[in-house]
Amino acid sequence: MTERLPSTSDPLPEGETAGCDTSDILLVHRIFRWGFREMPRLVRAAPPGDRSRTATVADSVDLVLLGLHVHHEAEDLLLFGKVEARRPACAATIDLMRDQHRHVAELLGRAEPLSAAWRDSADGRAAERLAAALDEIGTVLGVHLHDEEDDVIPVAAEEFSQREWDALGEHGRESFPKDGMPIQLGLMMDALPPAERAEWSRGHLPFPIRLLWAILLKRRYTAWQRELFPEGMPALV
Ligand SMILES: [Fe+2]
Repeated sequence: MTERLPSTSDPLPEGETAGCDTSDILLVHRIFRWGFREMPRLVRAAPPGDRSRTATVADSVDLVLLGLHVHHEAEDLLLFGKVEARRPACAATIDLMRDQHRHVAELLGRAEPLSAAWRDSADGRAAERLAAALDEIGTVLGVHLHDEEDDVIPVAAEEFSQREWDALGEHGRESFPKDGMPIQLGLMMDALPPAERAEWSRGHLPFPIRLLWAILLKRRYTAWQRELFPEGMPALV
């Protein structure tokens, strides 16, 4: 969490115009809602003592926890200060967002060692402690995402240039481990209704990434899905 800076001004960079497409954040939020619904279920379903299954599920739990940390870091650094500076009437809302992020960060700080303890022990009680911590994050996060979507994202859509908005997504991509990229990209695709996927990837992904997805990343994503959800992955939409 970054310290709050004086919100005197944070003007739009010269040559850029206000107004942007913020729809990508709704996909990211959909992934987190799904993640905090499915991960506790997978943790509880892992047979106690099965170290291999525990490691598989713990890897994905850790990825979701890291993903949320990175996503909130991007908003702390690149979203809240600008919204507050450009729309002073939103100051109380932004204070609330920062409080909610602090609360989520506290809960993430508790869940991470619980995941490590479960991975080390493959113990049923350790699994339940982790699953309960994930449930709690899901509950707190559900309220936060709803508030953010209602009260912050529409303001950013009016006040940010497209380049400023895209910097949030870039932060997420750059701060995430490269071997998590197939999962990150695959979940984004799955967060869209099937009929919209091709058009979304043409409009949002540079050609080299689309090519990489087709020849390599999609296969890795499918392998991850099959390993984590042998009975089929529950849909995101
Ligand atoms: Fe947020």
